[in-house]
Amino acid sequence: MGFRMRYLDLKRKICSVRMLAIQGIAEAGSGHPGASFSAAELMGVLYFRKMNHSPTKPDWSERDYFINSKGHSAPGFFATLAIAGYFPPTEMKTLRKLGSRLQGHPVRYTQKENRQSVPGTEFSGGSEGIGLSVSIGIALANRLDGKKNRVYTLIGDGESNEGQIWEAAMAAAKFKLHNLVAILDRNRIQQDGFTEDIMPLDPTRDKWSAFNWNVIEIGGHNVEQIIDALNKASEAKDSPTIIIANTVKGNGIKHMTNNPQWHGKAPPREHTPLLLEELRSECLIAPSIIAGQQENYEEKIRSAERGGADIIHLDIMDGRFVPNTTFYSDTIKQLRHITTLPFDAHLMIENPLAHIQDYIDARCDIVSVHAETCSESEFAQITHRLLSNGISPGIALNPSTDVPNWLFPHLQDVDVVLIMSVNPGFAGQKFIPEVLSKIRLINQKLREHGFLGYIEADGGIDATMLQAVYEAGARIFVAGNAVYGSGDIHGAIIQLRYKVNVALERKLLEQANTIGIRHDWLKTRKHILIPLANELGIEEELHALK
Ligand code: DX5
Ligand code: ZN
Repeated sequence: MGFRMRYLDLKRKICSVRMLAIQGIAEAGSGHPGASFSAAELMGVLYFRKMNHSPTKPDWSERDYFINSKGHSAPGFFATLAIAGYFPPTEMKTLRKLGSRLQGHPVRYTQKENRQSVPGTEFSGGSEGIGLSVSIGIALANRLDGKKNRVYTLIGDGESNEGQIWEAAMAAAKFKLHNLVAILDRNRIQQDGFTEDIMPLDPTRDKWSAFNWNVIEIGGHNVEQIIDALNKASEAKDSPTIIIANTVKGNGIKHMTNNPQWHGKAPPREHTPLLLEELRSECLIAPSIIAGQQENYEEKIRSAERGGADIIHLDIMDGRFVPNTTFYSDTIKQLRHITTLPFDAHLMIENPLAHIQDYIDARCDIVSVHAETCSESEFAQITHRLLSNGISPGIALNPSTDVPNWLFPHLQDVDVVLIMSVNPGFAGQKFIPEVLSKIRLINQKLREHGFLGYIEADGGIDATMLQAVYEAGARIFVAGNAVYGSGDIHGAIIQLRYKVNVALERKLLEQANTIGIRHDWLKTRKHILIPLANELGIEEELHALK
């Protein structure tokens, strides 16, 4: 079954990595945001979920090894080590400064060299093309010593121009190194151009299979696909595995996305607050499969995935807590194999503690129970069981229910607060307008109490409501009728995401005004804003930009 991911906590941690990296790069005035962001999920999943490692014992003999062969992704790599606990995150402010341990490219950590390097750095990366060879040496030595340690190597697609990579590829297959997993950050950009223009690498898959590697290809920003691929790689018996991770350079900041300009360029320091706002504003679209006519849940999930949904919202109703009955854990078990998309289970059932194991066994990734159906101690037992099974715990509130006082001591264990904007029981109802100010107040109150999780809005969400709900503070949007009642699932999801983008750009423009950088921000952001200019009312202003 492989390990479980506590999905929302993992997303939040990876978001913190991007925020820390961009702060360090902006502060230094130099660095590589492009690669730091394209590999963020890859490094995050390894350090926060997959690898056996110990930040307090960097030389632990049983540790797995991470060889970062694309050294220029150093800011993202360092930020990942910091969030994982290898050194204080505040030290990222010294990135690339004279005397700092955090230079432009990582230096292998040794007790002796501990003034120039940070614990957890296994390899001095900078000149590229070397890391895979070093990984073979480590994997071979481990196997000769009969050790179970695994070796994970991050390589680049520009770096794959290096001949040494292919020598190493031959050797690893020759030695049948099943304990070696190479991860290709396939972001299709190298330095100032696109790989397929500079030195075509495709057909990448065929190349690696021709070198007798076990090849897995995934979306490199989907943590669930990365986890699935790493689990599969652990099952390889007699060949090394390469995970071709299709990523996007600069992913996370729209004007840096897939843009060679931002390979090795730092944003102006004064842009930092806006970039942090954008990163912390990542939104998730969650279609609710009980909505719409047809009952074919399997097809609904497949079309949602094809349509670009982030998570699947599952409404479990027992006919007692709510005046409707839908499905239970057995149905979820049957649906689990259809997709790696996270399952967001919304339990509208009485006595959830008695049934929680069923939803753990059904492999849900997020499970929210209603505050109206459990006491503080029952909720504490539920979150404990979910967390110990790597599941993100959530609490749901009916429209008339406020956050219970007993919840505040448990906030660090809660990854999502789901606020109902309709009375629970049916899809296709109208959004209750009064809930908007409730979302805003609850979001504020929870943040004041140190809540780091997500606010999820559920009920009557459509393209007309979304901006207001976004501005109120929600970042997970359940959409039932808006998606499955639309007749065009893909189109509906695109339109919801478009509305999220408009709300985000509006917020960033307001912030740019407040800190007095509107003109510069418009120039930097122009190609992102043009498609939204009409809705944002800035067509003339963009037009006038020199
Ligand atoms: C209602 C459910 C919602 C509902 C959403 O009790 O919790 O998830 O299915 O559907 P729409 O978006 O149509 O309100
Ligand atoms: Zn729901």
